[in-house]
Amino acid sequence: HSVAVIGAPFSQGQVRTGTRHFGAGGNNMITLVTPYSLLGCHLKDFGDLNFTPVPKDDLYNNLIVNPRSVGLANQELAEVVSRAVAGGYSCVTVGGDHSLAIGTISGHARHCPDLGVIWVDAHADINTPLTTASGNLHGQPVSFLLRELQDKVPQLPGFSWIKPCISSPSIVYIGLRDVDPPEHFILKNYDIQYFSMRDIDRLGIQKVMEQTFDLLIGKRQRPIHLSFDIDAFDPTLAPATGTPVVGGLTYREGMYITEEIHSTGLLSALDLVEVNPRLAVSEEEAKATASLAVDVIASSFGQTREGGHVVYDQLP
Ligand code: ARG
Ligand code: MN
Ligand code: MN
Repeated sequence: HSVAVIGAPFSQGQVRTGTRHFGAGGNNMITLVTPYSLLGCHLKDFGDLNFTPVPKDDLYNNLIVNPRSVGLANQELAEVVSRAVAGGYSCVTVGGDHSLAIGTISGHARHCPDLGVIWVDAHADINTPLTTASGNLHGQPVSFLLRELQDKVPQLPGFSWIKPCISSPSIVYIGLRDVDPPEHFILKNYDIQYFSMRDIDRLGIQKVMEQTFDLLIGKRQRPIHLSFDIDAFDPTLAPATGTPVVGGLTYREGMYITEEIHSTGLLSALDLVEVNPRLAVSEEEAKATASLAVDVIASSFGQTREGGHVVYDQLP
């Protein structure tokens, strides 16, 4: 089948520069593409998006950073993702910070209104503009997408195009370990399902995936949107990211998650976000984080640890 790869070099959902540099053309893209061009997927490189800059983008409420830039970039991204999905592609968006999920999920939902989201992250990213302590929009994307939350979410400049497109039973979190108190209230109050690192310790990753699929696709098949924040991994594996948190996923847990998602056959869009090579203290750290991101993508589209095989008529 066909996979569209979209570069989304956008980092204004947070305050550090550099998140945009992963996947931004050149070498990163080539290393990204090589492993899974071998998997029998037809790859189409959509290139890097050129987001329209917004010159004078004042704080909203004296706190929220770059609202118009985040709003417009996501509007543009949603358009591209929805076109790719409508064209029959599975869609990989390489970020960029996690505010991009506003655009990817909105765009995906235009063609697949029944999609389910698996959000792999150390963070819940479900603050509203009224609960956020940081003001960074990469900590808030889910709040703009959930229907049930809309009476708690003020209209930000640049955000008027957004139609909340998922309901709370349609998202499951995996990997949480740094959840702000208002976010925890929201998760509990709206009965949003999550598997924290503690749950992974308790159940093991196999049961976590089983229960995730029971929740999302137990009753009916539906397209899956995987939104994967590289900071879900332990910082020893993924140091080049803006908000690392100790005690994260092992490499094997991460690969198990993506292998299982691949084997559902339902993966329809994937975000890989928050890789920021500039935050690495060494070239090796930057490379390790980027190559981990490549493994997440490749494994999501069928690369296995047990190897693939050639189909022979007869073994030579
Ligand atoms: N909860 C914190 C905040 O609201 C951190 C969010 C981190 N998000 C991320 N996509 N890395 O700012
Ligand atoms: Mn995160
Ligand atoms: Mn995130």
